[in-house]
Amino acid sequence: MEVIICSDEQAVGRIAADRIAKVLGRAETPVLGVATGSTPLTTYSSLAVLAAEGEADFTELRAFALDEYVGLPADDERSYAATIRHTVTEQLGLDSANVHTPDGMADDLDAACAAYETAIQDAGGVDVQILGIGANGHIGFNEPTSSLSSRTRVKTLAERTKADNARFFEKGEQVPSHCVTQGLGTIMDARNVVLLALGVNKADALAGAVEGPVSAMCPASVLQLHPHVLVIADEAAASKLT
Ligand code: F6R
Repeated sequence: MEVIICSDEQAVGRIAADRIAKVLGRAETPVLGVATGSTPLTTYSSLAVLAAEGEADFTELRAFALDEYVGLPADDERSYAATIRHTVTEQLGLDSANVHTPDGMADDLDAACAAYETAIQDAGGVDVQILGIGANGHIGFNEPTSSLSSRTRVKTLAERTKADNARFFEKGEQVPSHCVTQGLGTIMDARNVVLLALGVNKADALAGAVEGPVSAMCPASVLQLHPHVLVIADEAAASKLT
């Protein structure tokens, strides 16, 4: 695991974007794994700058999102499909047909999860997976106790995650209780992983992920078993690393 500690969020985004663009530039048919949430936003805007400056070309880029709420359609602004549309597809100028999000509205969710796995494989697998980390150590929505070899499936959101994500919902609205998420095994199949962490709220989780025992209680710790992981954190998130 390579760890880069940056002074601020903008620097995290710039360094992440440079590294991601280099890997994608070497790929014949580039595939990017994308996360929602606040953490990767400066990375997406920095990737957009690279494209605008002609330093990167995302014309052929395909993207797969990590997760989606169950019960929110893609045209619901709180859905992850909508978030990815605004922060990734539109900002990077991707062809929307090349951007995929798990289907949280499918009648048969298990079949939709299996189809998502197949779609990733048919695209040739993920060249670079961008990850944030939850304060409880989750990646994707693989909450503590998730199987380290899990595949895309329906999960129940932890109370802490629902509380953390309540900021995206109106006061009084319920945060969905279930999601579809790529599994830890699915994430581990990516050829490269870039794990981003910002803020002191993530310091314990990041320390657990990077320096703690590999354990389902800190799902991100499974990344210690991956051969190509780059961690980019601001000083606050890195403050509990030894
Ligand atoms: C988002 C996702 C989550 C987030 C994590 C951190 O698709 O899968 O694991 O990356 O909850 O969220 P932020 O970045 O909002 O702190």
